[in-house]
Amino acid sequence: MPFTIAIDGPAASGKGTIARALAARFGLPHLDTGLLYRAVGALGGDPVAAARGLTAADLARPDLRSAEAGQAASRVAAIPEVRAALVDFQRRFALQDPGAVLDGRDIGTVICPDAAVKLYVVADDATRAARRAAELGADPAEMLAQLRERDARDSARATAPLRAAPDAVVLDTTAMSIEQAVAAAVAEVTRRRDG
Ligand code: DC
Repeated sequence: MPFTIAIDGPAASGKGTIARALAARFGLPHLDTGLLYRAVGALGGDPVAAARGLTAADLARPDLRSAEAGQAASRVAAIPEVRAALVDFQRRFALQDPGAVLDGRDIGTVICPDAAVKLYVVADDATRAARRAAELGADPAEMLAQLRERDARDSARATAPLRAAPDAVVLDTTAMSIEQAVAAAVAEVTRRRDG
């Protein structure tokens, strides 16, 4: 049974940073699943066709990290056929040997409900907005409004909404440095691996 680490949470909660650090620490490949939805949104046209035909080159576009790409991603991610088109790729990635780290919104609930470790990473809204504003060089108030809009859409959609799995460990990074958050995540993964 491969050792899959599922990391979910709202935008800018720190889940991507934690996922990358865990992948490096435990020598596992990492998939940022938000990138799939960002690429579908950025391609434009029919989002279902875009999801079905997604290529590695689409994921390498330089403009996928912008706030606009995040909003477009959140909108196409509410379409059930888009999500369905991306499930197999994510599951195959999750189930490779000796394991993998995936971060997103529905990894512990839908993509990989049997993951060995599930983390649900949260932080308060103002902290998330400040982090993302610093990262993108944007206005914190505008970021706050955008994150709230995106979280509301991601949480309210009918298919695979943003939600903690019942067996996920909640990690609140509001008052943590990156080092502290990574250390807490490493401790949880080590406990599961050795336990
Ligand atoms: O993690 P991110 O900010 O790059 O994600 C962008 C959008 O993609 C997010 O607002 C909702 C969607 N998404 C999703 O619905 N399911 C995932 N597993 C990952 C992202």
